[in-house]
Amino acid sequence: MSLDQNQIAQDLAQAIASINAAKDLEALKQVKIDYVGDKSPLAKANQALATVDKSLRAEFGKIIGSAKAELNEVFEKRLKELSSQRDSQVLLTERVDVTLPVQKTLKGGLHPLTILTNEINDLFIGLGYKVAEGPELESEWLNFDALNIPADHPARTMQDTFFIEPLEAKLVLRTHTSPVQIRTMLDQSPPIYVICPGKTYRADELDATHTPVFHQVEGLVIDENITMADLKGTLDHFAKTIFGSEVKTRLRPSFFPFTEPSAEVDIFFNGRWIEWGGCGMVNEKVLVACGVDTKKYSGFAFGMGLERTLMVKYGITDMHDIVEGDVRFSQSFGVGRQ
Ligand code: PHE
Repeated sequence: MSLDQNQIAQDLAQAIASINAAKDLEALKQVKIDYVGDKSPLAKANQALATVDKSLRAEFGKIIGSAKAELNEVFEKRLKELSSQRDSQVLLTERVDVTLPVQKTLKGGLHPLTILTNEINDLFIGLGYKVAEGPELESEWLNFDALNIPADHPARTMQDTFFIEPLEAKLVLRTHTSPVQIRTMLDQSPPIYVICPGKTYRADELDATHTPVFHQVEGLVIDENITMADLKGTLDHFAKTIFGSEVKTRLRPSFFPFTEPSAEVDIFFNGRWIEWGGCGMVNEKVLVACGVDTKKYSGFAFGMGLERTLMVKYGITDMHDIVEGDVRFSQSFGVGRQ
């Protein structure tokens, strides 16, 4: 192959024109193959150097060398141009508009009943109590007999209690958290300060004020010199923590087989007296059944429904809202909001 100076100049001009005509990086890639790479006319001219007459070789080497240098320079310049063009286009098309509304995903949250339980546990732990728990499937003896609820007591009839088959096993779904009192007294020696929150069951239809599965919190104290005044003071503090410092409490005589004397505790809240729970001094018969030395120790117990507490505190008028699990209900308590 012979070399021709004009041809080289023409090839260079053609290569430069093609490079400058490339509209984007993709086109430039092809131009590079055609005019800059190993198979380009200039590369071929370079390869042909070996075949030209020695006397001309140095001169042609120079011509081709400077043509290649110019070509590379033009190529690099175009590459830079097209790259920055591409970058600004990407910035433009992939721009994020931070003012657009976002798709909100709801976070999980605690049910108001759980929040209330935690609040009550915290309050009593602060007073030195321990949290005690017991099984929801309970023996009839612990749920009734040990609590001095005789076999003919109305609470034991089929209407109130979920009896579990086979009946000979004498198991029930606990109707209150009071069996945890018994379990604690059988398990520990006084002084005892416990709070027992948990699920309880009664054969009621679900309506605006009842639910067959509900929650109670039971308190039990056994120590020396415990009197009704300690009970009143504790309930007062409990009520003020949950309902606010303005709330008043009063005890109204009542009856429970496992406490003597027994009382209902009412609170004065939002301008009226409302029944809140039951309480009393632990019946001596119960203490004896649990092996507590009644000459040395006495105690009090109280029990409240947590659904009821929640309804009173927040003015909830329909139990369905508490049990149905609609997230909008929990959200209205500030739970799970983003
Ligand atoms: N266990 C009783 C109930 O479910 C409440 C209660 C607890 C009353 C402790 C007195 C003392 O109704």
